[in-house]
Amino acid sequence: MTVNVHLARAAPRTAETIGVPVAASGAVPRSLGLSRAALAAHGFEGKPGQTLLLPSATGPSHIAVGIGDDRPTAAILRNAAGAMVRAAGKRTSIATSLADLEGIDAATAAQAVVEGALLAAYRYHGLKSEPASEGLQELTLVVGDRRSSGAKLGADRGSVTAAAARLARDLANTPPAHLTARMIADKAVEVAAASGLGVEVFNKDQLAAMGCGGMIGVNKGSTEPPRMVRLTYTPRNPRGHLVLVGKGVMYDSGGISLKPSDGMHAMMKMDMSGAAAVLAAMSSLKALRCKSQVTGYLMCTDNMPSGSALKLGDVLKFRNGKTAEIHNTDAEGRLVLADGLSLGVEAKPDAIVDIATLTGSCIAALGLKMAGVFGNDQPFIERVKHAAVDADEAIWQLPLERNYRKLLDSNVADMKNVGGPYGGAILAALFLSEFVGDTPWAHLDIAGPMNSESDDGWLSRGASGFGTRLLIQLALDFAA
Ligand code: BES
Ligand code: MN
Ligand code: ZN
Repeated sequence: MTVNVHLARAAPRTAETIGVPVAASGAVPRSLGLSRAALAAHGFEGKPGQTLLLPSATGPSHIAVGIGDDRPTAAILRNAAGAMVRAAGKRTSIATSLADLEGIDAATAAQAVVEGALLAAYRYHGLKSEPASEGLQELTLVVGDRRSSGAKLGADRGSVTAAAARLARDLANTPPAHLTARMIADKAVEVAAASGLGVEVFNKDQLAAMGCGGMIGVNKGSTEPPRMVRLTYTPRNPRGHLVLVGKGVMYDSGGISLKPSDGMHAMMKMDMSGAAAVLAAMSSLKALRCKSQVTGYLMCTDNMPSGSALKLGDVLKFRNGKTAEIHNTDAEGRLVLADGLSLGVEAKPDAIVDIATLTGSCIAALGLKMAGVFGNDQPFIERVKHAAVDADEAIWQLPLERNYRKLLDSNVADMKNVGGPYGGAILAALFLSEFVGDTPWAHLDIAGPMNSESDDGWLSRGASGFGTRLLIQLALDFAA
């Protein structure tokens, strides 16, 4: 379902709902018709994230939207817009002056408000037999003349970035039988055609011929063939070249190292969230006039147990010639990324990023609300962190502790694919580092934030699309 975004000098008469920003102190806007004491009596103090719906029998309903007393930031406005949309419930049209506040530039504010509203309004309807219930269809940003050109620019950007994140959510929420490696490759071809990207799809034979033993190995137990998709965005006179590699494990059963049938296992249709973020981010680059060249690799296969499956003790040879002895077939993400990173560095980019739902260990370290970031080049990691702050997609750097590399030593191959019970997120990152050489590289482990357990600000329950807006911001800011 698409949401139309408009700009206006005043709320249109058709608006069912009017979202009114309210700080935590000072005068309450008169349009609400309530004093601060009356608002407080209803439990509304104007704190960021708080809302109070004031229904009306005759005119539009008003929503008091808390923004706190600090200078408004994009993150505050994004979450406030999300809370406003939730407070509006089934109402289909909202007008708000949230993007018209002092202390933040109009474009940044409008982009954040549109992102927050559109992402909070997201629901995966997929396969429900009942038709979708009503929700946001028309969003009007009410801004003064002075801010209107900036707000227009920001609103357009926000519509593009939110659509991208919604695409990533749709892909990750789709059940595994409805989105196989072949199907996501078809979808990538469709998205590429619609968004001005080059696209090539590589099948199993081609992957084998290219020496992508990680992809072939992980796919061995499956009746579904693998796909690798290369997406290219090439602007005129690029000011840099960035490579993005996404883990696209369409369903991770664990393979022979079978996962228990618990809630985590049931989420493993989302193990392609990295690939979804790369595809979704790239779909927006032309519309946002990204100035750098960006190449994306989607490493897609499922990980299944069967008579033909990869075994413990098997040795795989990757695209860059290195070998790994398999000690746990559930550590499969690093095996497909090994081929993707090898191919990525062959293109001699200025930097390479991989994004992957890689380890439960990263969830244990950082929880469900932030991703881990690792890398071999601190200035580049800082750029990734900067993009994460702008996108309000929280990441935290963990150490690439070279001392732990010996835990991956193997008697028969260059390394094992696992290294014992401790520091699993670090060991996975060390494994990946074997495939990037000297290219500045950052690794995002999004196992935790790939999914949101509840509606919360711009997050809607289910797949989060995490990383999509971060990668867009990184690509837009990028220069060699
Ligand atoms: N896809 C999982 C990691 C994961 C777990 C993502 C939970 C999202 C939520 C990955 O392939 C995996 O199974 N990792 C193992 C590695 C271990 C065997 C070294 C893990 O983290 O347990
Ligand atoms: Mn696994
Ligand atoms: Zn996995």
